[in-house]
Amino acid sequence: MNLKFFITGLVMFSVALGTINLLANEQTNTTDPRTDLETMDKRTPVPLLPHMALHQKQNMREHLESIQGIITALQKKDFKSIAEAASKMGFTPEMGRMCEHMGAGAPGFTERAIRFHKTADTIVLAAKRHDQKGVFTSLNNTLTQCTSCHAIYRQQVVNEETMKLFSDKISRHSH
Ligand code: HEC
Repeated sequence: MNLKFFITGLVMFSVALGTINLLANEQTNTTDPRTDLETMDKRTPVPLLPHMALHQKQNMREHLESIQGIITALQKKDFKSIAEAASKMGFTPEMGRMCEHMGAGAPGFTERAIRFHKTADTIVLAAKRHDQKGVFTSLNNTLTQCTSCHAIYRQQVVNEETMKLFSDKISRHSH
């Protein structure tokens, strides 16, 4: 008799434990940390497919390397290297097309991106003139383009379907 009670108790205890476990799992599944982050980050989303998002971040890290290249060369007054490093951020028609592609789902992004590349071109021009003060001024203007864009936009990784919805909405606005 005692044993029967004991076993029944054990079974009930296990069932209760199982339910608690289930509830806990449920809760972890419903809180998506990515969604939480997106809610907290109030910047304008730039919708991008995963490969585009990866590519954009790679470009960004290269921009930072260019800035470092410019600073290193500035210390040595090596204007040729300054021009080389800065031209990696410079505007080309190919770069322009890429910015259009990246900004297809975020109003104003492409324009800002192009303005940034064109500002970086002014570093190249100043370096070619061997104008150190001009390099500093243009470098500062370029960094302002970096920080102001970062203050406004963030990446939002989306699937093909969502990407298309965003791009359609924007192309309707601009026509
Ligand atoms: C037109 C907009 C724009 C400009 C201009 C811009 N960025 Fe970015 N950058 C972004 C966005 C959007 C992200 C993604 C940020 C996010 O989702 O939090 C980013 C991310 C980065 C990252 C993080 C990369 C990683 O691997 O996570 C670095 C570093 C960076 N940018 C450097 C720069 C530098 C340096 C400049 C200027 C020389 C620059 N960016 C100019 C839009 C811009």
